[in-house]
Amino acid sequence: MAHPHSSAAPAAYFDGPVRAFALAAVLWGIVGMLVGVLIAAQLAFPDMTQGISWLSYGRLRPLHTNAVIFAFGGSVLFATAYHVVQRTCQVRLFAPQLAWFTFVGWQLVILLAAITLPAGITSGKEYAELEWPIDLLIAVVWVSYAIVFFGTVGTRKVRHIYVANWFFGAFIITVALLHIVNSAAMPVSLWKSYSAYAGVQDAMVQWWYGHNAVGFFLTAGFLGIMYYYIPKQAERPVYSYRLSIVHFWALIFTYMWAGPHHLHYTALPDWAQSLGMLFSLVLLAPSWGGMINGIMTLSGAWHKLRDDPVLKFLIVSLSFYGMSTFEGPMMSIKTVNALSHYTDWTVGHVHSGALGWVGLVSMGALYALIPRLWGRKEMHSKSAIELHFWIATIGIVLYIAAMWIAGVMQGLMWRATNPDGTLVYSFVESVKATYPFYLIRLAGGLLYLSGMFVMAWNVWMTVKGREVAVQSPKLAAA
Ligand code: HEM
Ligand code: HEM
Repeated sequence: MAHPHSSAAPAAYFDGPVRAFALAAVLWGIVGMLVGVLIAAQLAFPDMTQGISWLSYGRLRPLHTNAVIFAFGGSVLFATAYHVVQRTCQVRLFAPQLAWFTFVGWQLVILLAAITLPAGITSGKEYAELEWPIDLLIAVVWVSYAIVFFGTVGTRKVRHIYVANWFFGAFIITVALLHIVNSAAMPVSLWKSYSAYAGVQDAMVQWWYGHNAVGFFLTAGFLGIMYYYIPKQAERPVYSYRLSIVHFWALIFTYMWAGPHHLHYTALPDWAQSLGMLFSLVLLAPSWGGMINGIMTLSGAWHKLRDDPVLKFLIVSLSFYGMSTFEGPMMSIKTVNALSHYTDWTVGHVHSGALGWVGLVSMGALYALIPRLWGRKEMHSKSAIELHFWIATIGIVLYIAAMWIAGVMQGLMWRATNPDGTLVYSFVESVKATYPFYLIRLAGGLLYLSGMFVMAWNVWMTVKGREVAVQSPKLAAA
């Protein structure tokens, strides 16, 4: 039921910032993944950057995470939220100039991150490394984003608020809350501040933030994308509207409590760790609710998967979503975490979510969105999309399989003891044993990155190609 588009569209949607964010997403995807490949290479060849401080692993790693999550993922989320909210509310974007401000402001944040992180300026909190002046700018941009988005929902021409907007809305509100609370700090100079929290409270606030960054930035927002672009691309209504509402509330309620699974066996009180584990296990259900709803939207139209590579991106992303949200609850069990924590298993889990879910769903949405934005019938080359899909998928499989094997191996080597209680292996032996897996991960990363170059070429050719169908009836409602 409830298909998002019904009556005639308004004369013109305001798509300038949507186009700008869509192109920025492709650019930052390449940059962020290039840095990912570089740090993957550094783990295999530690001396490759010759001790140059701003190219050191410790400085480039946060540059990678910030670039892929906030620059690439963020640009995808801005573009799609602005696109979807106009179509599903049948109204022009609210406060268009403010929408342009969010584009310029967000690019400025990215630029400042790209300068300060390699320079070694950091608050030291993972995924919240940027120092206080940049944090203030992020807060201003984010509140503006909220005004544009909710202003558009508030002025909508249809009574109903389509489910994609529920997810985008929850993501926007929650990220504002997380960012503002976790970034509270006392500045001591322009580029140095101290957290407002201390000791284990600081750790708990940080991982309340960190886990919900996964839950809302990397999940809820992308589920908003899923709920619009899959029905649209498959030309089928969402499988179950009821399920979408139930799993929405269950997901946002449950995520809030799961953060302590990042702090197992630390100074955090034991009961809080167990609570985090319990909520993480419960989280499997609403996560799979979303996956099932997305995949089942194809029921009766499975044949479309065969010849629509855009749908392949969107549907396979959901399989990776299902896989990583099965793995996560397992890793949150304390005894499993005792093995997985500190190992490359965590890195494998991260990238099955990041490359498989976030990456593929973003690419699918961009391939669906870009031709529409420039009034083209379709992307310049369908076979290039198909090629991108396969090299990306093979890249992901190489990456995560290598990290799973390496991770379990490391965990087992570190805990192996001789009958007299001494360790069987020294740490460096586990590093040596990991070496081949780092090479396989590097190969997987290179494949995934090459897919992005194929995409960039295809996007470029599409954008500069000729306008073929400016306002076909289908496009007007697209
Ligand atoms: C070409 C693609 C990519 C490559 C080669 C790559 C490589 C890496 C490497 C080598 C690390 C450091 C692992 C370690 O410290 O042992 C890392 C960390 C990370 N990457 Fe990527 N990455 C890629 C794409 C992405 C994407 C697209 C995302 C998100 C959407 C992402 C999110 C992360 C996160 C969150 C971490 C931190 C993990 C943790 O702390 O456990 N990466 N990546
Ligand atoms: C039901 C859903 C999920 C649960 C319960 C879960 C649980 C976990 C657990 C237990 C860890 C290891 C913590 C540690 O030992 O330090 C972890 C790490 C991580 N997960 Fe998940 N996960 C879920 C889904 C996802 C998804 C879908 C993504 C990405 C899109 C993701 C991204 C991450 C990241 C980035 C980390 C590394 C954090 C860090 O140490 O820097 N997770 N997750």
